[in-house]
Amino acid sequence: MKDVKGKVAFVTGAASGMGLGMARAFSEAGMKVMLADIEAGPLQEQVDDLKAKGGDVAGVVLDVTKREDVLAAAQKTIDTFGKVHVLSNNAGIGVFGKSETCRMSNWEWVVDVNLWGVVHGLQAFVPLINSHGEGGHVVSTASMAGMVGLSGAGPYNATKFAVVGIMETMMAENRKTDLGISVLCPGAVATNIASSTRNRQDEYGGAAPPSEKESIADVLAGGLHPDAVGRQVLEAIIDNQAYIFTDPSMRKMIESRHKRLMAGYDWADNCEALKEEKQAGGLPSGLLGS
Ligand SMILES: NC(=O)c1ccc[n+]([C@@H]2O[C@H](COP(=O)([O-])OP(=O)(O)OC[C@H]3O[C@@H](n4cnc5c(N)ncnc54)[C@H](O)[C@@H]3O)[C@@H](O)[C@H]2O)c1
Repeated sequence: MKDVKGKVAFVTGAASGMGLGMARAFSEAGMKVMLADIEAGPLQEQVDDLKAKGGDVAGVVLDVTKREDVLAAAQKTIDTFGKVHVLSNNAGIGVFGKSETCRMSNWEWVVDVNLWGVVHGLQAFVPLINSHGEGGHVVSTASMAGMVGLSGAGPYNATKFAVVGIMETMMAENRKTDLGISVLCPGAVATNIASSTRNRQDEYGGAAPPSEKESIADVLAGGLHPDAVGRQVLEAIIDNQAYIFTDPSMRKMIESRHKRLMAGYDWADNCEALKEEKQAGGLPSGLLGS
């Protein structure tokens, strides 16, 4: 999307952190923005602040785990602004713990917010973006934890790899359409994610302060300013950039993973079990969107 002025964006998790950074950058660029969040008070404060700065913005309270909330928020966006061009599936929470020992209610919470929240956003908004013929863009917030497995965060990694998988699939499906697709993979960003349990719904165990063990607040405090990520996402939408990495020093993490993957192929090349077997010889190019 080369020309964003006057276009409409919908951002989840917009009351704090990177979602707020995006809402600010989009509004400064002359976009109309619907800010969506589960936290009503902070959401209203940010909507008021952007309005005071001259932004054409509005807010909607929603829980992204609830499909009906996201559908209602989509309807409110259309009722308020007439159309929608940009979807930012950004709301997310952090859960720590190993896959095999993480409390099931926390497993379910992180999957419901970080994965189902994204699916609900896509189902509610992509048909609306595709309906007006003016093109648009979808960006979902994954993480470097969606690129490389990070110790002690299996459930979180699982959701972020899933988001990367969904967005890579949409990239393949939309190479020849006017719908741009990006996946945001932040490194450390100074947001409020270390206190994610402030928003834990009752069905997953209720709100709680972050435990000592879980707190990564110190690491994140030294991270990138979330407003910089907001500006970077705006630039990526304009440039139609697929992968948005916020910390170039983390390139080596992906290079190391790539080497480990290639070692798997080196091993398979000499694997006894495959020696005499017939193969399909790859996948049809259509599956890769080419
Ligand atoms: N901060 C980092 O270092 C970092 C790194 C990689 C990825 N991320 C991802 O960035 C995204 C944004 O997080 P952040 O770091 O800005 O944290 P944040 O806590 O500052 O912001 C997240 C926002 O999402 C909202 N939210 C939480 N649960 C919700 C729900 N069920 N429905 C609607 N809104 C909900 C929160 O109220 C909050 O306003 C998340 O997807 C997170 O996983 C963060």
